[in-house]
Amino acid sequence: PKLDPFTTLLDLKLGTFDPERGPVQVRTQEDLRGFFQADPPRPDELVYRVMPVPVPTENSEIQCSTTVLEPGTVGDEYYMTKGHFHAVRDRSEIYIGLAGEGCLVLATEDGRHRVEPIREGMVNYVPGGWAHRSVNVGDEPLVFFAAYVGDAGHDYATIERDGFPVLVCRGDDGPVVTDNPHYRP
Ligand code: PA5
Ligand code: NI
Repeated sequence: PKLDPFTTLLDLKLGTFDPERGPVQVRTQEDLRGFFQADPPRPDELVYRVMPVPVPTENSEIQCSTTVLEPGTVGDEYYMTKGHFHAVRDRSEIYIGLAGEGCLVLATEDGRHRVEPIREGMVNYVPGGWAHRSVNVGDEPLVFFAAYVGDAGHDYATIERDGFPVLVCRGDDGPVVTDNPHYRP
């Protein structure tokens, strides 16, 4: 065997691991410039953190992490992750909702899209070939656990260039999903 077994304790409300297994990845409004339609009004403000349980990036392993996505907006758009295709396109992923209220926006390279709910206890299956982005549509942090095939990798550049087919925006009566006017300009 290549690895020894290990155990870490996941706080199901906060999404933190004790002990931490790897460096926490922090994303601010500035890091998401070009992903939101509007320029970031408060560039230093925290949007999300990813807490990893890193293992070798091989398809014999299973990567997992938690994401804590803060509540907030840039322009009309709710705080969201950058979103990505897996670099190895057919690699799949599972999300488990732990806290908060969110949407999982998914899209294929041929332009199909889906919007699924993320809530405590929900399991979302992300099949290979579907880009995925989570969006916090509530007033509390959105927390979820993700597990995926070890060699999947992340392709952010395609999303940065093309966007997703739809945007999730704050409306008068809650979240509204609208067509993205800048999708694949
Ligand atoms: O593996 C995943 O899809 C998640 O753990 C995401 O990486 C995490 O939610 C952060 O989103 P992104 O990688 O799009 O910045
Ligand atoms: Ni992923």
